[in-house]
Amino acid sequence: MPRLRGFRDFVAFIDWVSDGRYLRGSMSAMSVWKYFVRGAAIVAALLVVVGSAIAVHVFRTWDRHWDAPLPAIHASADPEVIRRGEYLVRGPAHCAACHTSNDRDRAAADNGEFPPLSGGRAFRADPLGVIYSKNLTPDPETGIGRYSDGQIARMLRWSVRPDGKASVQLLMPFANLSESDLTAIISYLRAQPAVRNPVPENQFTLIGKVVKSFAPVFQPRNTIEPVARTPEMAPTVERGKYLARTVANCVGCHTKRDPISFAAVSAEFSGGAEMEPASRPARTRRSGS
Ligand code: HEC
Ligand code: HEC
Repeated sequence: MPRLRGFRDFVAFIDWVSDGRYLRGSMSAMSVWKYFVRGAAIVAALLVVVGSAIAVHVFRTWDRHWDAPLPAIHASADPEVIRRGEYLVRGPAHCAACHTSNDRDRAAADNGEFPPLSGGRAFRADPLGVIYSKNLTPDPETGIGRYSDGQIARMLRWSVRPDGKASVQLLMPFANLSESDLTAIISYLRAQPAVRNPVPENQFTLIGKVVKSFAPVFQPRNTIEPVARTPEMAPTVERGKYLARTVANCVGCHTKRDPISFAAVSAEFSGGAEMEPASRPARTRRSGS
């Protein structure tokens, strides 16, 4: 088939399709119509083929299992390690901002109290779907009592859920925590009282499934660079960088992102991300006023 470069080529193409009858002027309105219909049918057939290929791909991959290594992390019962975990979980790593179960507990966490991290908060990302934060207490049926230390560590390092499915990288930027900090966090969670709180499964819309199949933030991380050693508790740039990027996620909230793919669309730390306000208690209306 000739390649098309301009209008003249286009005319040549029509002529080729019509066996020269177009240029000879012997082409009737009927045959022009016939070629148009034939062209439209070819385009429609191509769309069906491409569309079904995408549909099959999405169906097979949106909720697939991933092979990611289980980190060799083992929780400790050493009170010193647990205290370090408490500082991280309740302080800069702000797990309670998302893993409390209701607004009252979240407000308590903001006031420096330690409510249970029993999860279940809904994160709505229209038009993609809803993701629920999970129960981080050691309950054996609804919490992390079901999981090995390696499964919890793999979630934080690789963004792969305990069941092997991909999570959302941006929610938890803890991939590069030092081994000792990761151990401390898991040790602290294991030492908490268990709270039974079943959390609903995440729900993805059709658009959500398509995005999940293709957008890298919905897939496991493919490289991580854990810091070799926790920066010393001192006012140094090294420690500040570790907090701002790896522990406290200042960069996550202070960078503007595309609402569908979540890819960064502004320079890191340059702000502009829109945040939903924390939900407020329902307002009651007084009658007669
Ligand atoms: C910005 C909100 C946010 C913060 C902060 C956060 N999480 Fe999460 N976490 C989530 C959401 C949402 C999920 C569910 C993800 C999913 O289903 O793909 C989750 C899932 C998890 C899971 C998987 C549990 C399971 O049953 O599947 C673990 C483990 C976890 N978080 C631990 C932590 C720890 C530890 C911290 C603090 C160091 C933390 N998270 C901070 C939102 C958050
Ligand atoms: C969960 C999202 C989130 C995280 C994590 C976060 N911030 Fe913020 N930050 C915000 C929002 C939203 C505002 C704006 C608050 C307002 O206007 O009331 C803000 C405001 C600020 C301001 C005030 C700036 C101004 O011009 O008024 C500073 C400073 C700041 N953040 C620093 C930090 C640092 C440092 C970290 C990490 C240790 C951090 N933030 C982590 C969401 C976040």
